[in-house]
Amino acid sequence: MHPEHDEGTAYGLPPATHLRELTEVGAGTPMGELLRRYWHPVGLGSDAGAEPKAVRVLGEDLILFRDGAGRAGLLHPRCAHRGASLVYGRVEPEGLRCCYHGWMFDVQGRCVDQPCEPDGGGALRHNVRQPWYPVQERYGLVFAYLGPPQHKPLLPRYDVLEDLGDGEFLEADDSSLGGGGPAIIPCNWLQHFENVVDSFHVPILHGVFSGPQFVAAMAQMPEVRWSEVGHGVRAESWRTLEDGARLHRVTEAVLPTLRVVPSPRLGRFGPVESIGWVLPIDDTHFRIYVAGRVTQAGDIGRMRSRMNGKAWSELSAEEHRRFPGDYEAQVSQGPIAAHSAEHLRTSDRGIALLRRLLRVQLQAVAAGGDPAGIVRDPQQARVSLAHCGNFRL
Ligand code: FES
Ligand SMILES: [Fe+2]
Repeated sequence: MHPEHDEGTAYGLPPATHLRELTEVGAGTPMGELLRRYWHPVGLGSDAGAEPKAVRVLGEDLILFRDGAGRAGLLHPRCAHRGASLVYGRVEPEGLRCCYHGWMFDVQGRCVDQPCEPDGGGALRHNVRQPWYPVQERYGLVFAYLGPPQHKPLLPRYDVLEDLGDGEFLEADDSSLGGGGPAIIPCNWLQHFENVVDSFHVPILHGVFSGPQFVAAMAQMPEVRWSEVGHGVRAESWRTLEDGARLHRVTEAVLPTLRVVPSPRLGRFGPVESIGWVLPIDDTHFRIYVAGRVTQAGDIGRMRSRMNGKAWSELSAEEHRRFPGDYEAQVSQGPIAAHSAEHLRTSDRGIALLRRLLRVQLQAVAAGGDPAGIVRDPQQARVSLAHCGNFRL
């Protein structure tokens, strides 16, 4: 046997490593600090209610609730008194009351009652603050800012969610539409975010393997051009429609985690109807919150993918293997993709641009500045995304 014939076997393969600075989201990590400079959705408006709800965001466990005045609150779970979890607490008109000794905290963590102390805690209760985060509600979602208070930006507005057509209204969804699987997806968020500008997986994964999963035209091998656009990476693709017209499809991955993906079903042409926030739950789980313009309640949920004519949850193990979709492809890259073993090629240019853009933002934060897409002037808080969509040429 000639030794060269045996090159490249898996024997002695070094342990694979991932790009830690781009993937890990915990407090104090480079990406964790970058992500903490932006607002992230932490629940649907209805998740903030009269029952405390445990949520996990960027590796932090938190408690979401809504007080009697209708204000949403997001508190650290361990009670400032002696650490019992506020998930067992009770929501009252003025705040959330801990189950153990009854301390009560308002939506900004101020202690407003200590019932076992003389005078309900009197003046001393104001010395205590339950750690909290600011929240804002928009588009049917609750957004939170987990970063340094002095760097808090405005929550952006998006034209495609504000310029409503006749009969249109907004609907929000928390089932990870576009993720191709369950609501909580067990892999690193960047695997999904990179997929947004991975234009060439569409004809293969969704065309040859799981499909044609959308419409026939989407299974064509497209012409693709990527560009960096300041707040993100744009992927443009061109295909020929059945009637001979050209389809110009514009998709963007917008900092820090926004997926601006036109419907692959080509139901109608024009600007993108919905956008999705990829929320890193922790290093190895994410979920997607979507908000979009609809004309009928439930339209957002009808965007859910079907493989072999079935919903993902209805597929047998063998069907999952034979009709893999985004979930199977991305989760099978590993809990965190093995970047050291990758071989990026020309068709991965969108991914290379996105990693570069993220690295530039890491440097900006490390240098004490603002990353791209941070807005503090209310005149600038409206982001235009109407150029993204499916357009007939
Ligand atoms: S531990 Fe919460 S009130 Fe004592
Ligand atoms: Fe996909």
